[in-house]
Order: sequence, then structure tokens, then C-alpha cells
Amino acid sequence: AATTRYEAEVSPAVCTGTIDSDWAGFSGSGFCNGDNGTGGYAQFTVNASAAGTATLKVRFANGTTSARAAGLVVNGTTTGTVSFEGTGAWSTWATKTLTVPLRAGGNTVRLSPTTSTGLPNVDYADV
Ligand code: GCU
Ligand code: CA
Repeated sequence: AATTRYEAEVSPAVCTGTIDSDWAGFSGSGFCNGDNGTGGYAQFTVNASAAGTATLKVRFANGTTSARAAGLVVNGTTTGTVSFEGTGAWSTWATKTLTVPLRAGGNTVRLSPTTSTGLPNVDYADV
């Protein structure tokens, strides 16, 4: 099936932080700079035509040298963890491929940081 791109700055996506555009290379009009803490999440609402497992590709940048960890929370349930390694610069973007269990219709997919460093900058999710 065709890939749908869900931009982190486009509603109904939620970014508890700011939508920034100060680091080059993002898609759309900006990226989610989550608050640096465990509360600063990025959430996408992903539509699925049928229930099943889907591949979700998250584009991110982490200009630090430390990986940033997050829980993968689908429809309110933590289904996995993700480590967003340093990409070398805030303007260097990388893609993380995740597997998510979706139900038919709308699904919330939240990246919920597990440490005080928060999330990397998050550009979009392709599903
Ligand atoms: C810098 C950078 C932000 C980033 C932040 C962070 O302030 O400009 O884009 O989100 O570091 O450490 O999370
Ligand atoms: Ca940040």
C-alpha cells in the first residue's frame, strides 16, 4: 500500500513542546522540538484500513552524542521502546523503523521519552 506521511507539525499530531524550523532539512513546515523531560512527547494519529502490524518510519535528528530513549505507546499501551542515537548534528536527519500494532481506523502513536533529556527533534512518521 502507499505510504502516508504524518508531519509532526500538522494536527491532529500533538507536540508537547514547540514546532521549530531553525534546523535545516526538515519536511513540511517544521519539526517537533519536545520539551526536554519525560513529559515532552510527539504523537501521531495514524489511520489504518484494517487491523494489523504496520511499519512506521520516524524521521528525527539528535545533535547530541547521547542516544535519547522513548517508549512507543500505541493507543495508550506501551508496545516497545526506541533509542534515537545521535545523528551528528541537529540538521542531520535519520530514520528509525518501528513496528506498530494498529487497529482499523484511527490510532494514536506516541513517542514518550523515558529520561529527562526528552526526545530528539521529530520531523514526521511515514506509515
Ligand atoms: C538545542 C536545539 C533544539 C533541540 C535541543 C535539545 O536547543 O536547538 O532543536 O531540541 O537542543 O537538546 O533537545
Ligand atoms: Ca528538545
